[in-house]
Amino acid sequence: MRVLTYLIILFYMVSCKKEAEIKPVVKSVDTTYTSTFSFNQPSNFPSPHYTFYKNSLTQKGFELGRYLFYDPILSLDSSISCSTCHAQQHGFADHNIPLSKGVDKKFGTRNAPALMNLAWSTSFMWDGGVNHIEVQPLVPLTSEHELGETMANLVIKLNKNSFYKKKFKEAFGVETITDQKLLHALAQFTSMLISSNAKYDQVIAGKTSFTPQEQQGYELFKAKCANCHTEPLFTDYSFRNTGLESNFKDIGRERVTQDPADRGKFKVPTLRNVEFTYPYMHDGRLFNLEQVLAFKSSGIQDSPNLDPSLKNGLNLSKEEQQAIIAFLKTLSDYTFIGNPMYAEPVIK
Ligand code: HEC
Ligand code: HEC
Repeated sequence: MRVLTYLIILFYMVSCKKEAEIKPVVKSVDTTYTSTFSFNQPSNFPSPHYTFYKNSLTQKGFELGRYLFYDPILSLDSSISCSTCHAQQHGFADHNIPLSKGVDKKFGTRNAPALMNLAWSTSFMWDGGVNHIEVQPLVPLTSEHELGETMANLVIKLNKNSFYKKKFKEAFGVETITDQKLLHALAQFTSMLISSNAKYDQVIAGKTSFTPQEQQGYELFKAKCANCHTEPLFTDYSFRNTGLESNFKDIGRERVTQDPADRGKFKVPTLRNVEFTYPYMHDGRLFNLEQVLAFKSSGIQDSPNLDPSLKNGLNLSKEEQQAIIAFLKTLSDYTFIGNPMYAEPVIK
């Protein structure tokens, strides 16, 4: 079914549907932030992968993307929005539930990942099935487990909506809203979700220091975890089998490459804001960091595809696990979780 969805997306095959009734949901944007608008390259990050090529970043484009991200107009029955599954207070992961519900309360099969620093990401989804940030929304917009729409119907709905007609004109100078401009606006919002102001970053910048326990956790992290969760983004964007199972139901990366050597491999997730993004793993099977550390320490199951660095387990004592958790909490970025620029637009 998912393969079919992707194929449909690839060829932009869109079907026509009866037009839904149009109601503007959000009316005006919160203007409490007025900083000059540009891509804020954090000094300790590498250059981003996404460069806004042919999609010039503007405040109006970003704000439009923000309206759309929070607006259930993008779903078939106006019941859910992107933000239903990607909540700011959880690092734009889901509301503490393993699998998220789409339209008609249909469950998907994977945990909604946190969204941040996506401009540095070289692929999207747990299996890397999407390779571009501008194309990525086609999956949630048209998946029957998510927003359940068609691109053709979305374009019709938006073009009948005077609020969006005005906003797209202001952002892109267009009289008619197209699917491409919808994707451009969403990409301006999602690529600007930058988290780079955790305690960790302050320590790296020499502005503060770790507690002894956090420092111990950091040393252990560099020795045992950083080959995959690589600083400063806390992922190397590779796909790895981490031994959650010896026989995977969800085959992961193999779905994309058709290579059995990729069975059970999933994209290494960032660990920034990990304190808020529970439950964990591609299917949300682990509920807290204690469970994750217990698993990584002694629960790894062997199989031919298990990552070589995990073959003998990570063997961490309880005290070491606690130290690593203390370090992971230094990746919490309250200026990101609470940034008014990313919050639901205020209805005035
Ligand atoms: C019903 C819940 C749901 C909705 C609604 C939803 N998503 Fe997601 N999102 C997910 C899940 C689940 C995944 C992981 C899918 C997978 O790996 O196959 C995901 C993955 C993503 C990713 C990839 C992140 C990464 O690091 O790989 C992005 C970006 C994203 N969603 C953005 C959006 C946008 C934009 C919208 C609205 C147009 C949206 N999502 C709507 C559940 C949802
Ligand atoms: C061989 C690469 C590798 C190593 C080493 C590794 N991880 Fe992971 N980690 C992953 C992958 C891949 C996932 C996602 C697995 C999945 O969902 O099936 C993951 C998931 C996680 C998650 C859940 C994040 C989320 O958003 O769901 C946490 C927390 C985590 N790792 C912490 C650690 C810590 C702490 C260490 C060191 C003790 C470590 N990892 C070592 C590859 C690795």
